[in-house]
This record gives sequence, C-alpha cells and structure tokens, in this order.
Amino acid sequence: MCGIVGYIGHREAYPIVLKGLKRLEYRGYDSAGIALYDGEKIKLSKTKGKVADLEERLEKEISTNGTIAIGHTRWATHGVPNDVNSHPHYSNSGDLVIIHNGIIENYDSLRKELEKRGYTFTSDTDTEVLVNLIEDVQINEKVKLGKAVQIALNQTIGAYAIAVFDIKKPNEIVVARLGSPLAIGIGEDEFFIASDASPFIEYTNNAIYLEDGEMAVVRRGKEIKIRKIKNDRKVAPYIQELQLNLEQIEKGGYDHFMMKEIYEQPDAISDTYRGRMLAAEGIIKMAGVDDNLAKLLNAKRIIIIACGTSWHAGLVAEYIFEELVRLPVEVEYASEFRYRNPVIHQDDVVIAISQSGETADTMAAIKMAKEQGAFVFGVCNVVGSSISRETHAGAYTHAGPEIGVASTKAFTTQITVLALIALKLAERKGTISNSEFYSYLQELERIPAKVKKALTYNDQIIPIAKAYKDAKNFLYLGRGFNFPVALEGALKLKEISYIHAEGYPAAEMKHGPIALIDEHMPVVVIATKKGHYDKVVSNIQEIKSRKGKIIGIVTEGDVTVRELADHVIEIPETEEFLMPLLSTIPLQLLSYHIAVLLDKNVDQPRNLAKSVTVE
Ligand code: G6P
Repeated sequence: MCGIVGYIGHREAYPIVLKGLKRLEYRGYDSAGIALYDGEKIKLSKTKGKVADLEERLEKEISTNGTIAIGHTRWATHGVPNDVNSHPHYSNSGDLVIIHNGIIENYDSLRKELEKRGYTFTSDTDTEVLVNLIEDVQINEKVKLGKAVQIALNQTIGAYAIAVFDIKKPNEIVVARLGSPLAIGIGEDEFFIASDASPFIEYTNNAIYLEDGEMAVVRRGKEIKIRKIKNDRKVAPYIQELQLNLEQIEKGGYDHFMMKEIYEQPDAISDTYRGRMLAAEGIIKMAGVDDNLAKLLNAKRIIIIACGTSWHAGLVAEYIFEELVRLPVEVEYASEFRYRNPVIHQDDVVIAISQSGETADTMAAIKMAKEQGAFVFGVCNVVGSSISRETHAGAYTHAGPEIGVASTKAFTTQITVLALIALKLAERKGTISNSEFYSYLQELERIPAKVKKALTYNDQIIPIAKAYKDAKNFLYLGRGFNFPVALEGALKLKEISYIHAEGYPAAEMKHGPIALIDEHMPVVVIATKKGHYDKVVSNIQEIKSRKGKIIGIVTEGDVTVRELADHVIEIPETEEFLMPLLSTIPLQLLSYHIAVLLDKNVDQPRNLAKSVTVE
C-alpha cells in the first residue's frame, strides 16, 4: 500500500507529482506529502489527510518551481496517520529525503543502533530509520548515494519500494524495490517514478518495471543504471510498451469510479473472453492454459489462494470446477495458507487470484506453493504485476484499471476467466457433453447483454437503498453458486457504507443468524430460479415469520418470492454456474447507493486500500 511518485527531468515537477499522487490515492489516503528541490533548497510539505488537503496546503505554503520532486500518499503501518509520520522523511543532516512503500521489519533494532550513534528521530516510522541508515552508511563508508542505499538495504528485513535523493546532488534519484511495486517511465531526458504507470501515462508509453531485489539510479539526461541489491550484478534495462490509456483511468462522467466500473462490466466481461472464446465454433484458446494443458488435466486437486473479493471469486470457482470438471477444489485465504503447514502435492495445481497482482499475502503463498513443487497459475488484472510474473503461467482478466477501492468488475471478470478455464478442462476431460459445452459457451457470450439488462434495474434499487440506509445490520443469504455472492454482497456493503453485514449460506441461517432477525433486520436473499429455488423460498418464509425485511434478488418473471418479499430486484435468467455474474450486480448497486445516501467516500473508504502490499 502507499503510493510513491517521483520526477526528474526538464519539466516542472510539482504538477506531475501532485497529479500522480491523486491517481495513486487508491493505494492509501491517510496522509500525503511532496518534497521538491527548487535549485537552492528542498521544499517539503506533508499533511494528514488526502492529496487534496496537501494541494491546498502547498498552494498556500510554497512556490512550486523545480524539476526534481518526490511524493507519497500513505496507508499507515508504523505510526498513526499524522503530519509528522507522513512522508517524505529527511535524514538528520537534512540532505537526504526519502519516500517509502512497505515495512522495514527490523526498524526497531536499527533505530536503537542509530540512536547509540547520536541520530535522533522525530517520527514513529520505519522510513525515517531507513533514511538515516542510508546517511550513516554514506558518511562512514564515504560512498555515493546509490552505493549507500544498496549497503543500507542489505541490512534491512522487510519490504520496500523507495525513492531517495540527496539535495547536494539534485541530479539523480535512487530507487529500489523488494516486495512493493515500482515502475520507471522513460521520457526524453526525463524519468518518472511511480508505484504503477498511471501517474506518467500522458508523458510516455515506455516503462521499466523493476524486479524484486533490484535498484536503479536515474540521472537527469543519462542512461538508467539497474543493479541487483544483493550482489551488485548489473541488469540490462527491459523497456516495455504500456497498454494503458488516460481515458481508462478517469471517471468518464460518473460521480465515482465504483459506479463507472460497475457499468463497465458488460464490456469488461466481453474483453475477458474476446479472442479466447469462439462460441460458434466451440473453441477456447488461452495461451497460459493451452501451454500447460497436461499439467492442468492431470491435476488431482486445485487449491485456490486469494484475499478479499478475489477470495470470493475463488469460492465461485470452487463450485464451477467441481460442477463442470469434477475436480476437488480447496479455497484458501492466502494469509492463512502461508502460515499453516499445508499439504501440497506435486500434482496439485494452485490458482492464485489477484486483481492488483501485488497482494503481499497472496505473493508469499505463491512462493511457498512453488517451493513445495506445485504448479502455480495466476489470474491477475494488472498486466506485468508481481504475481503475474511470479506464477508459472496465467491468464489476465483484461478488466482495465480498477480504481474504486471496492472491487466490482475485477470480481466478475475473474469469474469469467475461471469459468473459461473450467469449461476448457471439462470439455477435454469429457466431464460435460459436447452439446453442453457448445451451449455453455453461447450462454457465456450472452452474459454481457444480460449484465446490461441487470443494470437497467438500477432505478428500482435507489428507493430500497433509501428505505434501509439507516439499518445497523444487514444479512445476505444465498445457496450454492450464490452463496459466495452473498458473502461478496455483504463485503461490498461493509466496505463502503460501514454498515455491519454478514453473508451466510441460506440454510445455515437456522444455526445462529436467525436469532438476529426482527423487524429491523433487512435480509437480502438471492433466490434465483435455478439456485435451489424451493429451498431458498422456505428460508424466506422463515425470515418472514420472524418479521425480517426481505429484499429478494429474483429471476425475471418470478411470482412466488415477489409475493413474500418486501422488495424484489430482478435479474435475467442464465445457467446456474454463470448466475454469480448477474446476481452480484444488484448487490453492487445497492451498496453503492446506500453509501452515497450516507455521504460516505465511495471510492476511498476509510482504513482500506486497493492494493495491500503489507501482510
Ligand atoms: C484489498 C482490496 C480488495 C481486494 C483485496 C485483494 O483488500 O480493498 O478490494 O479484494 O485487497 O486484492 P487483490 O488485488 O489481490 O485482488
């Protein structure tokens, strides 16, 4: 988490870094800061709060001329979010200035060592320790900044993406990464540094993504120099052409990124299968799958690892793989999996799902699975992300940038990719018939239009949001394929409206949550025709007889639930295994409207971050 941005070149650095910070705010928004060198001295400003607060302060406080600057938007780990703990941080001499994304785990012992040598600290951060360690090395070893950074980093344990410069040599910025992402945009005699490419997309299409354990010295007007932090080995720069465009990272007329992303789902889903699925011909082509077909077909078990919404997509995939491919599937929280002693066999296939491709726990779980000999397949959205590079093979979701912290289109496109893989394996294994295979592909091709239709019911959801926005608790119920959707619906509401919500398998309600039901409890029940309909209807009766308020998600034309429920929201009919792609839509819209009505910050909910690069 945390976003870092830097610029060195011939343009005014301030507007570039400030705009870049706004684009990276999804990574954290507890505090923000910028350090700019104006040719004589450093101008540093930082504040608790959002980048907009920093902007206001900056415009009052300092003139902003200068062609080298670094900036930071923080998700607090060490030290509460306040002005002092905000980045950038100075070294004791005031010469070095640093920004950092990650955690230096041994900062406490390093700090004590430095204190013995006379260093003092104003903040509670691990970052201030790191910048003073670099300074200490620079002074004692009489080495250049790049070397000092390297020596210092070799004494640290933890994760980092850093950018640091020395005001005595304001022609270079030293950057390094381990465990946190760092991209370098290459312009004409200028460099852009950022946690992802979005801050520099309008300036250059050429970027280098530093690999873990690499550092680089970027010098104004010079070639970039990359080295391995551990052994000092030189690395040839690998410049990639970016596929991102500006439109994709702007709101495009919507009030919030979340709403834009909800409405992008029909296109995002078709982008996911475009070029991979030829429904009329009964073909699924996916390079990552085709190149490893034997491994996937011979797998005795699939283990899915993920966090958050991606974990919910994994649960949907469990139902899909078991139903279509008849393969046992286990779905694990990456954070639990990595610290257990899981039994992994050589013929297990591990599927790691991650929108950002940077989640620290998922990354660590992948490394562990690889060490134990499993074949690891990644399902990521962000092209070139750490997880997409760490896995043996994979498939991108191609959802386009997802900026709203509450994940929406990432979820549906993850399910789409996983359904494609399951369909391909099922066809090869013969666990579904040829005619089923053809008809499932055709149905998948109809899904974008059906999502569009589900979105047309948006106006009916607003009055429901108004009726329940002040509820203290919500219950979400679903069965079978719709059970993970219930979990996801509850998560969406919690994340952006701060209303407590629980997702439950509808039948399991009797074993506890039913005690919560009274006339104040809204219960969202997914009661689609093919999803154990009669059983869910019985569950609805149970809620009704305890006076709970029922919001039913039903298939078009439903009569029974309409009679029982207080409200219904319709969605089109589809195959049961594809239903999560539709049943999740009204739940996304319901939480969105409730959050807007409650005046919450939909795109940047408190305490959360889009990309969780700390464990
Ligand atoms: C954070 C985000 C969630 C996301 C989860 C996993 O908690 O706020 O929206 O589902 O991380 O992220 P990943 O990028 O690995 O899918």
